[in-house]
Amino acid sequence: MEYRTLGKTGVQISFLSMGTMTFGSAADEEMSGKIFNRCREAGINVFDTANIYGGNRNGRGEQILGRLISTCRDELVISTKVGTPRWDGPNDGGLSRRYIMLEVEKSLRNLQTDRIDIYYIHKLDSRTPMEETLRAMDDLQKQGKIVYPAISNSAAWQIALGLGISRKESIAEFVCVQPMYNLVKRQSEVEILELAKAEKLGVITYSPLGAGLLTGKYTHGDKPDAGRIRTDERYKARYGNPLYFEIAEKFVDYALERGVKPAALAVAWAASHPAVTSSLIGARNLEQLEDSLSAIEIKMTPEWRKEIAALSVDPPPATDRSEEKK
Ligand SMILES: NC(=O)c1ccc[n+]([C@@H]2O[C@H](COP(=O)([O-])OP(=O)(O)OC[C@H]3O[C@@H](n4cnc5c(N)ncnc54)[C@H](OP(=O)(O)O)[C@@H]3O)[C@@H](O)[C@H]2O)c1
Repeated sequence: MEYRTLGKTGVQISFLSMGTMTFGSAADEEMSGKIFNRCREAGINVFDTANIYGGNRNGRGEQILGRLISTCRDELVISTKVGTPRWDGPNDGGLSRRYIMLEVEKSLRNLQTDRIDIYYIHKLDSRTPMEETLRAMDDLQKQGKIVYPAISNSAAWQIALGLGISRKESIAEFVCVQPMYNLVKRQSEVEILELAKAEKLGVITYSPLGAGLLTGKYTHGDKPDAGRIRTDERYKARYGNPLYFEIAEKFVDYALERGVKPAALAVAWAASHPAVTSSLIGARNLEQLEDSLSAIEIKMTPEWRKEIAALSVDPPPATDRSEEKK
C-alpha cells in the first residue's frame, strides 16, 4: 500500500480509503466486519463515515464502525460528517453551532472515541453564515474533539471563502476536501483540485466507480435490476445521463482489452490525479471490495491516464478565452 501526506498535516494516509456508507445498510454488521478486516490487511488506514450512514439516518453506520475500531483506534484515521438533514424537522440538519455541538457528541459516542480525526461539513447550509460554522469547528479543535476540519460537496469558491474567513479570524481552517471524482464526474478537476494544489489541501475523493457504473455491470453482460443506480432515485438521477453509459461502455472495453478489471482501473485512475491524496472506495461484499483493492496492483502510466480521460468528456475550463495561448 502506498501512503501519501494529507495536505499540510504530515499525517500519512493510504492512497485508498474505505468508505463505510454500506455498513448497516447494503452490508450487515457481519459483512461490514469482514470488509473492515480485509481493508486493514491490505493496509488501508482511513475509514470514512457520516452521522447519517447506516440506513436509519441515526448513527447505525458510525456505531458499527465504532465497534470495529475499538481495538485499533490509534492506528486509524477516522472521518465523519455533519450537516445533511436526518429528518424533516426545522433543526434536524444544517451547520449551526447548536447542531454541530449536538451532533459531534453523538458521533463521538457512536464511534467510541474521544476524537474525530477529520470532521467534514457534509454539505453547506445556506441558512448559516460560514463564520458560525467555522467558529464551532475551531472550538471543537481546541477542545480536542476533532483534529482537523474539512469540507465536502462544495464549490471551490465556497471552500476558498471558508479559508479566507479562517485566516482573517485566525481560527481553524479546512485541511482537506472530499469531492466526488470519477471518469464520468470530472467537475472537480476544473477548480477544486486546482485550489487544493494551490493551497496544499488534502483531497480524499469519493465514488471512483461512479457508484458501480464503471464496473461494467450496467453496460456489459446480464445488466442486473439490483444495484444503487437501479434502485436509488438519487443515484438514478446522478448517473442517468446516457452519455455516462456510453463513456462507461468505452472505458470497460478499454480495461478488458488490457486484461485489467474495470473497477480496479477506475479506482486507479481516480487516485492518480496529481492533486488527489486518496480515493474512497465502497463495497457491499468482499467480491466488490477485492475488485477495487486490485487498484493497488495497477501502475497508472501518464499515457494510460491520458487515454482514459480521452474516453470521457473534458469539463469546460473555469474561464473563457482558453483559445488564447498564455
Ligand atoms: N461526501 C459525500 O457526500 C459522499 C457521497 C458518496 C460517498 N461518499 C463516501 O465515499 C465512499 C465510496 O463511495 P461510493 O460507494 O459511491 O463509491 P463507488 O466506488 O463509486 O461505488 C461503490 C458501489 O459500487 C458497486 N460496486 C462496487 N464494486 C463493484 C463491483 N466489483 N462490481 C459491481 N458493482 C460494484 C456497489 O454498489 P451496488 O452493489 O449497490 O451496485 C458499491 O457500493 C462511501 O462509502 C462514503 O464513505 C461520500
